[in-house]
Amino acid sequence: MKERVQAIHATPGRSLAWHTTRRPVYKAAMDRSSAASTLATLAGAPSADEAARVRPVVVAAVDEARARSWPFLSDVLEHALRPVADEDRAVAAQLVHALVKYDRLLRFATEGVAADTGSRLDAFLSIATEASPARAELQARVDRIDDRTERAGVVYSLPDWLVVAIRDDVGEGALCDVLARMNEVPPRVARVNSLKTTRDACLRALADSGIGAEPTRHAALGVVLHGRRSAFRTAAFARGDFEMQDEASQLVAELVAPAPRCSVVDACAGAGGKALALAALLGGRGRVFALDASEDKLDELRRRARRAGASNVQAIHSDLLAPDDTLRGLQARASRVLVDAPCTGLGAIRRNPELRWRLRPERVEALVRTQEALLRAAASLVTPRGRLVYATCSFLRREGEDVVERFLADDPRFSLVTARDVLGRARSESIATHDGRYLRTWRADGGPGGMDGFFAAVVRLSAGAAPV
Ligand SMILES: C[S@@+](CC[C@H](N)C(=O)[O-])C[C@H]1O[C@@H](n2cnc3c(N)ncnc32)[C@H](O)[C@@H]1O
Repeated sequence: MKERVQAIHATPGRSLAWHTTRRPVYKAAMDRSSAASTLATLAGAPSADEAARVRPVVVAAVDEARARSWPFLSDVLEHALRPVADEDRAVAAQLVHALVKYDRLLRFATEGVAADTGSRLDAFLSIATEASPARAELQARVDRIDDRTERAGVVYSLPDWLVVAIRDDVGEGALCDVLARMNEVPPRVARVNSLKTTRDACLRALADSGIGAEPTRHAALGVVLHGRRSAFRTAAFARGDFEMQDEASQLVAELVAPAPRCSVVDACAGAGGKALALAALLGGRGRVFALDASEDKLDELRRRARRAGASNVQAIHSDLLAPDDTLRGLQARASRVLVDAPCTGLGAIRRNPELRWRLRPERVEALVRTQEALLRAAASLVTPRGRLVYATCSFLRREGEDVVERFLADDPRFSLVTARDVLGRARSESIATHDGRYLRTWRADGGPGGMDGFFAAVVRLSAGAAPV
């Protein structure tokens, strides 16, 4: 899924995580100037000519997404873009993403004028042009909204409940930064498959296919792809030289830091983003038991593992919350267990802009309960002295620090290993919380084009711990 989103499109807690960024905390988050800076993020839209070529497809795709109550946009696009010429696909995808992301803002902009998607597309193209009168007029109307939640909801194009939930979680001081970051256009990032090639060789192979790329700043094997050309049509991708994977997701795998030849359980492996990265970290030796409750996702994982030459990955259909014989056979067997738990996905909202319209408040609470249950269940798979790594693609403290701190309070056999201890002081400086305890990739000093917003924590089972 993420693979597809990245192909088409070119990411902290009751302010603890944001306070740890050493950046001055913004005050008066919802002041008038915030609206101006957000409208400025609309820049970079395609030209009117480019937009005209793809207009019918874009309007149809957005209408379909709305009619189907906002399924994953990557799925809608996969189908909708089939008839589009190769050279127009990236522009079409960019416009669909923008119209979905800015749905509330564009509705506000066209209020009382027109209510169709085509009119919102025209409004987008018009206000995306910097000095346009339409933008100045919209700015003035936004500034007249008195209620600060509603103003933020319109400006950042988010439902009011989500603005309130994020403010409750990250604090007023960090709110503006978080909301603005949620609307950035994410970079396209790949992980070089060290089972097949090196980063330098992969960069050269991409260049030979006309794709400029540069190494990521933090992840050891990441490359940021430039331009709009599809990376999936390259010989390097067909050979399994790389996988599309955000830098933050790659860092979670690095935080697992498996010892050579060890056994790792990826307890929520999904389609295998991190499982494949772990298999490569192990150099193809050892074993990665990739568990998931979804057979469809495991099928995709198996397909990707074949292409990647990751023969040390074993996909196992298993529900962590309904232990069967297979799961019982893995009890206390792994020196590393990763729980990349189902979560709101807010840390990847830049790639899945429709999430804001699909997510519901009650879903957030249900997810936190599931995360706690999965972490408790996965704890039984760890060998004494082994490590359990908990990760979410979310910047909410309630899905991150809160879950881990409750787990540690409930199970004294486990103790925290800091992200700083695992990654080293220098490396963790800009990607861990200020106290070095946790990996946190969405920080106020991350800058534009930063990583997705992951949280990860490492806990260790004591040497003499009795199995549960
Ligand atoms: C965030 S996704 C994992 C993404 C994956 N690790 C990656 O890097 O691509 C969470 C996964 O947890 C799986 N899951 C949810 N509940 C589960 C359960 N009770 N047992 C096992 N897997 C579960 C979901 O099917 C989903 O694939």
